Amino acid sequence: MSLYRVLILSALSFFLSLGQALAEDYSVNVIRFSHVVSENTPKHQGALKLKEYIEEKSNGEIKVQVYPNSSLYGDKDEVENLIANNVQFICPDMSKLTRYDPRYDVPSMPFLFSSDQAVLDFWDKGKGQDLLKGLESEGIIGLKCWPNGFKNITNNERPIKKPEDLEGLKIRTQSGEVLSAIYKTLDASPSSIAFGELFTALQQGVVDGQSNTFSNIYTKKLDEVQKYMSVTKHNRVDYLLLTNKRFMDSLNKKTKKLVMDAVEVATKKERELSISLNAEAYEKLKEREQMEIYELTEEDREDFREALAPVYEKYGSAIGQDVIKDAMSW
Ligand code: SIN
Repeated sequence: MSLYRVLILSALSFFLSLGQALAEDYSVNVIRFSHVVSENTPKHQGALKLKEYIEEKSNGEIKVQVYPNSSLYGDKDEVENLIANNVQFICPDMSKLTRYDPRYDVPSMPFLFSSDQAVLDFWDKGKGQDLLKGLESEGIIGLKCWPNGFKNITNNERPIKKPEDLEGLKIRTQSGEVLSAIYKTLDASPSSIAFGELFTALQQGVVDGQSNTFSNIYTKKLDEVQKYMSVTKHNRVDYLLLTNKRFMDSLNKKTKKLVMDAVEVATKKERELSISLNAEAYEKLKEREQMEIYELTEEDREDFREALAPVYEKYGSAIGQDVIKDAMSW
């Protein structure tokens, strides 16, 4: 065959495959994203960005359905339904994943991360990169950390200023052994309750208090059923954006690229909002004047840090000293 013919044939085959790629259909019509928090939160707004991006770029060929407020699945069944591919994205508070891998207790460790930026550095550049893979044996893919923020303690009994003020209080925890250990160390009684049941549990006095981000406290109106809030910032609510392998493997190249691009764009949005919505929520909580608010002094924080040191002795090795050291280094 002459060189000329070879060139023509190669060019034809190149344009043919380009044409096929461009004309390729998307390999999914509907994607579902389920979560447990309210609409005006970083997580829901991040999910809406994912929806907007995918629907716009696919000219409406793919629909993304976002279910907030545990309206599709709640804390107790969202992971199982992700594994079964009944839902394609969830974004749980990491303490709820510790039954699969104890390293997901890292955001619960007291006074571990020095700032919001340190959290992002840990997940994007540090040991967090290994932790993203912690659910692979379950058929789950960890995509990104979606931060929420530092947690603060609310309760109905008394202002919490010193570690001993927690003595005897019934405190709701998200999940995981570290959160239980924190309250047991402070002589309080922890019990794990799903987020969807938290408001009622506080209202009915099943528990006296809980700890959460300003954003979750404000958007779930927990100040309507709590008298005191202490700005302790002693640990964090941070999420893992998760999808499942079955779903990802079913996507053709064009769809997978669209989905992964959407994850990047939505992550950026969620991270910006985690800062601004938490700051706004704190101002709104102050304006609403439903709770008496106490901001821990540096000295108070030091007392809490000292009182909670045993948690490191007990759980440092389950999480891994390398992980703890890395989290502290940013
Ligand atoms: C969430 O932010 O997803 C829920 C946190 C909680 O359970 O308190």
